[in-house]
Amino acid sequence: MPLDALDKVQTLDDLTSAAAERNLTPGWIKRSTPLLWREPRSVFVPHQWTWHEAKAGLDSAARLIGTDLAERRNLVMRNPVDGNDFATLRTLVCAYQTILPGEVASSHRHAPHAFRVILDSHGAWSIVDGEKHPMETGDVVLTPGWSWHGHGHDGTAQAYWFDGLDVPLTHLLEPMFFEEHPAGLEPVKAVTPDSPFRFTWAATQKALDAARPDNEGHFGHRIVLDTQTMPTITIHMQRWDSGFRSKPYRSTANQIFIVLQGTGTSKVGDKTFNWSFGDTIAAPCWSAIEHQVSEDAVLVSMSDEALQRFGRMWRFEALD
Ligand SMILES: [Fe+2]
Repeated sequence: MPLDALDKVQTLDDLTSAAAERNLTPGWIKRSTPLLWREPRSVFVPHQWTWHEAKAGLDSAARLIGTDLAERRNLVMRNPVDGNDFATLRTLVCAYQTILPGEVASSHRHAPHAFRVILDSHGAWSIVDGEKHPMETGDVVLTPGWSWHGHGHDGTAQAYWFDGLDVPLTHLLEPMFFEEHPAGLEPVKAVTPDSPFRFTWAATQKALDAARPDNEGHFGHRIVLDTQTMPTITIHMQRWDSGFRSKPYRSTANQIFIVLQGTGTSKVGDKTFNWSFGDTIAAPCWSAIEHQVSEDAVLVSMSDEALQRFGRMWRFEALD
């Protein structure tokens, strides 16, 4: 059809096909994925990755590949849905990583924001923007987007941590940049135990001691870490006593829980997960969440709540 003939078409079908030839897609046609729908329906599924399996995999990786070949020796937690090869949830990805005594993971920087939850480490360290600080068990370490970061390990036992990043969000928005440090490992400008990028286990304990449980019973003792330097990722720490049972809720935030201490059971959507140290549980947007604690527990959670709040999209609903 000639390009000037769009005003001459006689039928709706002809209009639809003529418009399609010009990459104009009518709003009234049926699509396999509609533009709007009634309420959130994540394509991602609730899922659990267990530490005993991930650790076994990391230990084999430590035998089979060095940090000279793998810039980061990690195992990425892919949500098990068709067509997805790395995202844990829509905006977030997480991984387990390990480093051996004496190894160095060279410095790089990238647009995505990242943080680490240190699962087991004595003697590992990070250099973030020239500041070298320890990474000890229970620490949370931030690496805001475009901050140089590299790691090393002066201890005697293999170290493990959890990585959380907003890479899927960066892919969606497309401002991805990545750069390796020209020196390999970034030179150290200062050595500090009190980096603003590091939340120590002791500081977390102290803040949780002072935290009052929420009145509604959804979150128990919970604090939020200051992640203003990486506002796309919200990090909560929560401590729950044995016997605690959270009131069920759902929110639009995509949320991932990491177990630092204790045991329990969580219902996420239509799945039930029994968890213990090191496990990771993904709770997609708008899935019902309920926790029950068997042994005193500390969990970290990462989510896109602050990002959704900024966009005035975040919504919460109590389900009890
Ligand atoms: Fe990185």
